Amino acid sequence: MDWRRRSVLLFLAVCFLLRNQAAAGDNTWDLTEEEDSELERELKTLNKPYVKSFKDEYGITYDCVDIYKQPAFDHPLLKNHTLQFPKRSDNTNKVSIIKQTLPKLCPTGTVLIKRTTKEDLMRARKYAHQIQSRMQLLQAQIRDSSGDYHYAGVEFAAGQGPKYYGASANLDVFQLSGVSHNQQSETQIVLSKGAGGPKNYIDTVQAGWLVNPGLQGDDRAHFYTYWTSDGYQKTGCFNLDCPGFVQTSTRITPGMVYTLSTLSLTIYRDRFTSNWMLYNDREPVGYWPKEIFNNMADCSLVQMHGNVYSPFDEPSPPMGSGVLNQAKFTNIFLTDGQGNNRLPKNFRELNDLGERYYGVDYRVQNGGMFYGGPGGWKKT
Ligand SMILES: *[C@@H]1O[C@H](CO)[C@@H](O)[C@H](O)[C@H]1NC(C)=O
Repeated sequence: MDWRRRSVLLFLAVCFLLRNQAAAGDNTWDLTEEEDSELERELKTLNKPYVKSFKDEYGITYDCVDIYKQPAFDHPLLKNHTLQFPKRSDNTNKVSIIKQTLPKLCPTGTVLIKRTTKEDLMRARKYAHQIQSRMQLLQAQIRDSSGDYHYAGVEFAAGQGPKYYGASANLDVFQLSGVSHNQQSETQIVLSKGAGGPKNYIDTVQAGWLVNPGLQGDDRAHFYTYWTSDGYQKTGCFNLDCPGFVQTSTRITPGMVYTLSTLSLTIYRDRFTSNWMLYNDREPVGYWPKEIFNNMADCSLVQMHGNVYSPFDEPSPPMGSGVLNQAKFTNIFLTDGQGNNRLPKNFRELNDLGERYYGVDYRVQNGGMFYGGPGGWKKT
């Protein structure tokens, strides 16, 4: 063999080895060279230089990034944004029910950010259209019970009355089993404006927990956030997958495995900055800056619900705890223009399949909602 031939063979052998090695880890092998370098470029812009980096007990890597150098500030509309340092909540209206405190994981001046991996990006691409559809407002899309998406929860519409400026509730969190690789089970609070359309003016902020092995890469319950400013078309994303959400916490960050049994969410529009703040109990997680929205001076529709997605060839997965009406939202409040918590007056229960699969039971007087169930619905 001449040297040319030998080097070609060597090259092929190396390619073969690399390909197999990659295949063992994930599906990197089916990327073209071009796609691969595109992902690498994307990773470089998403992942910022860090002061400290570590892995959690589940093998997920986190970075402690200078608060001023976080990915949010790559958003073109945030060029002149003034960072808001939220304080730990002294909102005494709300009973603190989380007994455990999440540990501080990053040094002061930095924020906790889940590092995006190539596998994360590939999974996000693979599931992109499904994510978009699963995140949507319940009424923004015509849903019928024969679809691949089901829900049980409650909505509060402002109608002609005063708009809302915030919402809060304590959500039970379950390490739910029985959600397959292709399925999702999720519980969330959604604040929105412009739900009736046109799409370009549907703005939302969303937070909750979900189990989605295909997307997350594991079957644990993850804390997540979502936003859009054009009805889920081109803007917005999950977590910090795109610039927008400003992270301020050193303890909790979108995308992380959530180990406590309660997520105590408060979302409200700050009266001085107009940013949409997100708290877990007394801990400020971060905020959605006002600049990224085009129609969110207040909020006209709040939804709180569990929802599930399943491909038609599998029975629908469990929701909530997996037991009928066992999971709950407690201390449900909406916030008015003066910053006062109000028990909602107008509500509508939403349940597309009925109690045989998933239930919902909202009790106005004690501000609680029981929901969820075992699932098992299958298209016949
Ligand atoms: C930022 O400020 C500059 C100078 O005032 C202005 O020209 C520019 O339009 C602003 N950019 C944004 C995105 O607001």
